[in-house]
Amino acid sequence: MKLTVVGGGSTYTPELVDGFARLRDTLPIEELVLVDPAAERLELVGGLARRIFAKQGHGGRIVTTSDLDAGVEGADAVLLQLRVGGQAAREQDETWPLECGCVGQETTGAGGLAKALRTVPVVLDIAERVRRANPRAWIIDFTNPVGIVTRALLQEGHRAVGLCNVAIGFQRKFAALLGVTPDEVHLDHVGLNHLTWETGVRLAGPEGENVLPKLLAEHGEAIAGDLRLPRVLLDRLGVVPSYYLRYYYAHDEVVRELRTKPSRAAEVAAMERQLLEMYGDPALDEKPALLAKRGGAYYSEAAVDLAASLLGGGGSPYQVVNAYNKGTLPFLPDDAVIEVQAAVGPQGPTPLPVPEVDPLYAGLMANVTAYEELALEAALRGGRDRVFRALLAHPLIGQYAYADTLTDQLIAHNREHLAWA
Ligand code: G6P
Ligand code: MN
Repeated sequence: MKLTVVGGGSTYTPELVDGFARLRDTLPIEELVLVDPAAERLELVGGLARRIFAKQGHGGRIVTTSDLDAGVEGADAVLLQLRVGGQAAREQDETWPLECGCVGQETTGAGGLAKALRTVPVVLDIAERVRRANPRAWIIDFTNPVGIVTRALLQEGHRAVGLCNVAIGFQRKFAALLGVTPDEVHLDHVGLNHLTWETGVRLAGPEGENVLPKLLAEHGEAIAGDLRLPRVLLDRLGVVPSYYLRYYYAHDEVVRELRTKPSRAAEVAAMERQLLEMYGDPALDEKPALLAKRGGAYYSEAAVDLAASLLGGGGSPYQVVNAYNKGTLPFLPDDAVIEVQAAVGPQGPTPLPVPEVDPLYAGLMANVTAYEELALEAALRGGRDRVFRALLAHPLIGQYAYADTLTDQLIAHNREHLAWA
């Protein structure tokens, strides 16, 4: 089996390689190709990747290249984990929206739209080249904003599935609190990427007993603490929102905080410098503990599981993925991309039925879906007015004066990445 990682020079890659090495019975990789335009970085990451495979006795070959077409040639699956403009562009996304009193975040709000506009054309170009190399290859997209990018890929007819680590993070967390293994925990997970709620936590599969009320009663404090939301809010909702919902439920509080501290991009950039220095040490042959400070915990496990199922191996029967709605959530269009549990096999993901969703959550999902549709329009076709429409539709923006100012800011800060600007 050949697997290619586009954005393979990311400091996250050792996390992925560690997962591939540990879980090699689930996903037997013969060749792993890391593709990245940043040659120096790729060599550092590639060197460590080879040492991790060697230490763990993995016989697979690791190839590094800056040649995308050669890298995807004959690949069974291609993982996309790129960041157009790097942490510098992210820093912008996290900063200029704050001037309007709006949240500055890489996937939520105006910053998320900027990221979508920079990213969608690049990802579609890569996907086209993957298809040319192997029309049967699966594309696994980690590239944010995952909901919009996956919708772009599916709309263009690509064999793509979007993936995020929020659900697997909850699964691990809840398993530890319940004293069971993660694979015993099944989440009733519903929403859009980075806009999800855990409405049930079941033991032993989708039909199992819902232990969420018990979990909230016994561990509400710990769960709320992690999300930085008040416990009483979780008790009143009776469900567990993802930490991205804090940008909505505590928007103004978050803006105040963000205004007084260094951006996450700056934090991550500093961490990346440290990580790359560590990766250059020939004695290092495992993923360093510092990587755990990144938000992507467990993403390697989610990737291995998904790739195994798509390529016909033995991944988990149900996995949380981003896929076409197709009637799963009847209040959203069929071609909206949703993030839910799905049965995954070589034909791709089939979402499991979802019980009726409380209007408290359905309303926000519908609103953000409309934003995502307009965001994709803007990303595909460009133009100031399309950017404005997407921003005006976003529930965290909504007022024309803000949408106008943010449109100007977005264009001014991203001109070099926008072909039409
Ligand atoms: C979580 C999200 C990812 C996001 C990451 C950011 O894992 O699910 O989509 O990329 O956080 O982490 P970072 O360490 O870059 O802030
Ligand atoms: Mn994510």
